[in-house]
Formats: sequence, structure tokens, C-alpha cells
Amino acid sequence: GNEWDNPMPEEGFLIIAHRGASAYEPENTLPSFELAEDLNADYVELDVHLTKDGELIVMHDDDVKRTTEAVGKIKDYTLAELKELTANEEKGKKVADGRRDEEEAYKIPTLQEVIEEMKDDIRFVIELKDTDQYPGIEEKLVGLMKENGLIGADAKGYPKAVIHSFDKKALKQVHKLESAIPLMQLISFDEGEEAEISAKELRDILTYASGIDVSYEALTPPFVNTMHDAGLAVYAYTVDDAEAALRLKAMGVNGIHTDEPDLLGE
Ligand code: G3P
Ligand code: CA
Repeated sequence: GNEWDNPMPEEGFLIIAHRGASAYEPENTLPSFELAEDLNADYVELDVHLTKDGELIVMHDDDVKRTTEAVGKIKDYTLAELKELTANEEKGKKVADGRRDEEEAYKIPTLQEVIEEMKDDIRFVIELKDTDQYPGIEEKLVGLMKENGLIGADAKGYPKAVIHSFDKKALKQVHKLESAIPLMQLISFDEGEEAEISAKELRDILTYASGIDVSYEALTPPFVNTMHDAGLAVYAYTVDDAEAALRLKAMGVNGIHTDEPDLLGE
């Protein structure tokens, strides 16, 4: 097992709202996170990057093109410049048009703004991406989590915030900076592939992570059992199909990342 107690709950089936309730509201915006809370999600998942002037902001891509009216890399924009843009991504297609008038609400949020707005109401899964472009982002994130009291568990015993990443180097760096932050290693398997991890790889993951987040189609009952026996929680992404969600739940998976937090009812 782990060198520390696995802080992720072993019971239950957590609903993690992927980029917020992103099937219904523009991804990674405050309305998307607020709707996730309204739909009783356990966590919101969000992605962070650094602006030219070193602010942590919430967006999926490292480029503003897909989700705003502008083009270019986030790292080449100052926060003030990004705040001029609108997070108008078309993914919020299921939402009533009227809500789209609240332009102010669709600004690109800083991580600090999201935390301040949401921390009393929901927990966070924060993804570190493209870290090679952002030297020092791990320190910034850990610092901000500490300032906001996000290290540790809430009254229900769940971690207030978890960091996940495909980037093993970034997770190891966070673990070195603050070992009390629960970490999840994101792992992607190709279509048609069954999940497997070598003994060596598993030993390495256990030195820093509390769990793994796996592309869900690859998960099998023996794999989930093996990971649990090793002391790792197993989460699945991105599950927008209710039947698949129920199958994963029956397999003992600890929770899902979903664009539709009401997938299994509110
Ligand atoms: O929930 C897993 C997911 O966050 C990883 O992929 O591209 O949506 O950030 P992506
Ligand atoms: Ca993500």
C-alpha cells in the first residue's frame, strides 16, 4: 500500500464534474461550476495554465482559439488581456439561450476566483497541463492551495482539493513540495486496449499518488481489484453514458469524471 493513508474515500461513487457541468454550460466557467454544484456533483474538475504575468487561470487548452473569439497562446496574454475575452465555447448547447446574456459570467476565471466563489460549496480536482511552458506553476498552485485552506479534508472526510495530471514530473514535484496534497495519475489507454500497469510502474506511482484516473473503456474488474489491493483509488474519465457509469460503479470504481453530473439522477 501507500506510505501514507490513502485519503480518497473507499466507499461511494464520486461524481466529478469535468470542466464543470460542461455538457450544459461553457466549460471551465463559473456558471459551469455553479451548475455542477446545483446538480450535486462531489467535485469540479478544472484545468490550469499560467498567463504572461504569472496568474493561474482556468482553461482547458493552452491556446485561446477554441473557447474564445481570439487566437494565441495563454502564456502570451496578460491576465488583463484575457479578461477582455469571452469564454463563449459552444459546448453549452443544452442551456436556455437567455443565460447566454450574462456576458460577465462567461469571462475566463482565475483559479483564485473559482476557489473563492466555490470552496464553501464543492471540492476541486485541479489538472496541471503543459507544465513545460510554465516554469514554477507547481509552486504557484501549491501556494494558492495553502493560502485558501484547501489542504486537508472537509467535514465529510473528503480531500478539499486533489491534483491530477498526465505529467508524472509535475505530480512528483507537487508531492515534493507538499506531500499532504492527494494526487491522481491520469492514464490514457488506446481504443480496444485493456488497462494494465507493470509492477515497476505501479511501484513508482505509489511513491507519490493516491489514485489513478483512467480512460474508462479500458477498465476491467481484475485491473480495478489489483489497483485497490495496491492501495490506489481508481477513477474513470470521461463518462457521459449512464450504462457505462453503472457498469463502472459495479466494478468498484471509486468515481467518474463526467460532463453531465446528473447522469445518474441528481
Ligand atoms: O477527466 C479527465 C480529463 O480531465 C483529462 O482530459 O483533456 O479533458 O483535460 P482533458
Ligand atoms: Ca482536465
